[in-house]
Amino acid sequence: MTICIADDASINQAVKLLHQGRLVAFPTETVYGLGADASNPEAVARIFAAKGRPENHPLIVHIADSTCLSNWAENIPNAAQRLAEHFWPGPLAIILNKKDHVPIAVTGGQNTVGLRVPNHPVALQLLRAFGGGIAAPSANRFCRISPTQAQHVAEELGDAVDLILDGGACEVGVESTIIDLSGTTPRLLRHGHITAEQIQQALQTELLIPDKAKQIQSDEIRAPGMMTVHYAPLTTALLCPSDCLPSLIKQLVSENKRIAVMSYQTVITATGQISVMKMPEMAETYAQCLYASLRELDHQQRDVIVVEQPPATAEWSAINDRLEKATVPDR
Ligand code: TXA
Ligand code: MG
Repeated sequence: MTICIADDASINQAVKLLHQGRLVAFPTETVYGLGADASNPEAVARIFAAKGRPENHPLIVHIADSTCLSNWAENIPNAAQRLAEHFWPGPLAIILNKKDHVPIAVTGGQNTVGLRVPNHPVALQLLRAFGGGIAAPSANRFCRISPTQAQHVAEELGDAVDLILDGGACEVGVESTIIDLSGTTPRLLRHGHITAEQIQQALQTELLIPDKAKQIQSDEIRAPGMMTVHYAPLTTALLCPSDCLPSLIKQLVSENKRIAVMSYQTVITATGQISVMKMPEMAETYAQCLYASLRELDHQQRDVIVVEQPPATAEWSAINDRLEKATVPDR
């Protein structure tokens, strides 16, 4: 495994490796992706092996621009063109019916394919130079915290990845919004930086937003991002509303627990027993450092991470979704 600052030379090297069926991690605006040639099933199999991800969990194919949509998808509805025009390049993945030639290794055996044009100069230069689609999940081990810096990818995957292109810290910090347009009604599959409201506005139509309670009961989970435990630190993490935070901390301290607190508005005083990570109060900047912060608190190897629950408003929906998946509901 090599980490290289992303420049013309390292991007050319990455293109060569992709053509050889090897794995290249690269930055996107959301999180780092673990890329392979999407038209090469053997290369795609390496992604699943490197991540330890079950093979029936589909991958997103990254493309250079929306004109490539028709290389991968068929029966493309107008809604897809409209979303592409509004949000690409950007943190939105669209699920469409796949073309026959798209390997089922990429789609986890489904007849649909996820497509996205990332908004990052390195990712776009790589895609243009490569010329094809790059299948890329987040470059972390299955169910672990997604990487937002090149170093995180190295920690997660080590020698399982051939080259890591270092393009600095990711600007958005949480994975793309996923919209399924393969059925009759547009459906939200994953919250992201682009909100459900923005999608509805662009489409001028209602978006089906699956009921969380039903998702939890359902054993037919289409997207691993929809599983209840995902993006999780190894340390037990608890999500706690602001008004209960002081009493929960008091209780844990009385139980002699060593705790790490991730707060955003409540002021908590650090002691030997309590470390404090003060997060930004704005959703956008909170998202940027969410995964790096969780990773850092996990490294402290304390008994418990306590996360102050952010507001339940639309701009926080992706963050709340990831925090719910990173934590256990109660003790
Ligand atoms: O922001 C992102 O989307 C990042 C960067 C690297 O682009 N990628 C990412 O990939 O988050 P991954 O594999 O960690 O999550 C992709 C999600 C998964 O939950 C997967 O199941 C879902 O997309 N997905 C992909 N293709 C699908 C399909 N055909 N049907 C339903 N869900 C699909
Ligand atoms: Mg992921």
